[in-house]
Amino acid sequence: MKELIELISDEVKAGFTRAGLDSSYGKVTVSNRPDLCEYQCNGALAAAKEYHKAPIVLAESVAEQLASSSMFSRAEALKPGFINLDLSPEFLSEYGNDMAGSDRFGLDLPKRPLTIILDYGGPNVAKPLHVGHLRSAVIGESIKRIARFAGHTVIGDVHLGDWGLQMGLIITELQERKPDLVYFDPDYSGDYPDEPPFTISELEEIYPCASGKSKEDESYHEKALLATKELQEGRRGYRALLSHIMNVSVSDLKKNYKKLNVSFDLWKGESDAAAYIPQMVSDMKEQGTAYESEGALVVDVKEDSDKKEIPPCMILKSDGAALYNTTDLATMIWRVKDYHPDRIAYVVDKRQELHFIQCFRAARKCNIVPDSCQLDFIGFGTMNGTDGKPYKTREGGVMRLSTLINEVDQKMYEKIISNGDLPEDEARKTADIVALSAIKYGDLSNQPSKDYIFDIDKFTSFEGNTGPYILYTIVRMKSIIRKYEQSGRKLSEKKILPPKTESERGLLLALAPFQDSIRAAYEENMPNRICQYIYELSNAFNHFYHETKILACEDLDRQTSYMSLLDLTLRVLLTGIDLLGFEAPERM
Ligand code: ARG
Repeated sequence: MKELIELISDEVKAGFTRAGLDSSYGKVTVSNRPDLCEYQCNGALAAAKEYHKAPIVLAESVAEQLASSSMFSRAEALKPGFINLDLSPEFLSEYGNDMAGSDRFGLDLPKRPLTIILDYGGPNVAKPLHVGHLRSAVIGESIKRIARFAGHTVIGDVHLGDWGLQMGLIITELQERKPDLVYFDPDYSGDYPDEPPFTISELEEIYPCASGKSKEDESYHEKALLATKELQEGRRGYRALLSHIMNVSVSDLKKNYKKLNVSFDLWKGESDAAAYIPQMVSDMKEQGTAYESEGALVVDVKEDSDKKEIPPCMILKSDGAALYNTTDLATMIWRVKDYHPDRIAYVVDKRQELHFIQCFRAARKCNIVPDSCQLDFIGFGTMNGTDGKPYKTREGGVMRLSTLINEVDQKMYEKIISNGDLPEDEARKTADIVALSAIKYGDLSNQPSKDYIFDIDKFTSFEGNTGPYILYTIVRMKSIIRKYEQSGRKLSEKKILPPKTESERGLLLALAPFQDSIRAAYEENMPNRICQYIYELSNAFNHFYHETKILACEDLDRQTSYMSLLDLTLRVLLTGIDLLGFEAPERM
């Protein structure tokens, strides 16, 4: 099914042709003066030059051609040469019925679906998830769902940070505390125990402790560097510790992501790239793309057109240890080999942009990815507190994600309880669902690349452009359907009639650009397009609801049409929030 804006443009283009003008001038946009018209075409202004006629004369001749079109209730030429368009009630209801009757509301599948690897989440093993990781998970999950809905194959990979200095730090600290563990005995050749020598809370306490020590104590730092290098070189005991750390940490991470309604197809990490590093390095040397500089191995990636300096991409440190660049490049090798992706996209803090510029260029230069594979960096901005500074705890420390979620949950619970409609246990469950919408919508309604202010009071409000407002609207619709069905009537396949009132028309008009919003969200990697669409749709529905007697409507045909319209709106909204990664409760 064609996208609305395309359908309208096609009709107007045909009008240009019939008026003896080139059809390319017939492009239509959403009106920038919704008070004056719904859609507009400014093509006559541009055509005036080519045809040496006043724009208004051309606009009038096109408007005349469009007068008989059943798509428009009004196609009017206005000075200096605009064509203002309003859709006809018949067209609007027909478009709504087409949406209601098609799979995915009429969104066509791509001719050739792409295989996309989406790298998001990016938590670091053995460190608690902090709010910095929230955005990657929330935005990435939504981008994944949108791309899937658009018909593509998306493989989500969490890309754990499990190969850097933090592993060496943990090993070092563990050795200080429990030097007798067999993992530290270089002569031990038996099997290692199945039970991990720590719990998740110990592990989470060990890392900050070790990191603090290593900043103050140079010899401790040296030890950690050595442990990192030995781990990377394959020291048995350390590898066994790594797999304990991974197991304990990953099951905890999975729990946390589950709470966020975020899931991954692959739980690979930086360490999974390790096996590909030696061959990659030797290929680079052979190609002559990598060379030694002050003991380190680097690839030059600067280009003549660079406006700022892009330093060489370092592949190995002078002690031979792998870096963040190295694992990211080697990760591309298995991704290409195992999945043949058309695209690899990374949802990462935009402050890492330089890292990705370097890696992408090195990957091209060293032929690590084929030319046909697109590499995308989807950088997101910082989540700030209401003071405009990066989000912190009240004490000024790094805020744990679980703390933040609990805070929002509690706030939501208090609100719901104070409304007094739900019993205690349902209020708890509902609070969790609504809190997640507050957090996710609060994030996703912003353009990903922008910084935004995490404002709990604003995000949890039932009014305004918030997740809870959208859910409140959905719950309202569900309740109308319940009442309708309780009175013995059934939602039927009956068609939506051409709208009679302004608010009914407004609702159909808000529904129609569904596909346009999905396409924009997919192509631009911007879930905020969907937020904007469902927000406007919710507003249009609430306006319709306040203006219309739905359940008490005496004209039964009209009432069935209202219910079909409501049902379509509900299904579209539920799809919208699913693409954003949250759900709706039955009541709230
Ligand atoms: N672990 C990294 C961090 O916490 C993010 C990883 C992003 N993905 C990647 N392929 N580099 O900053």
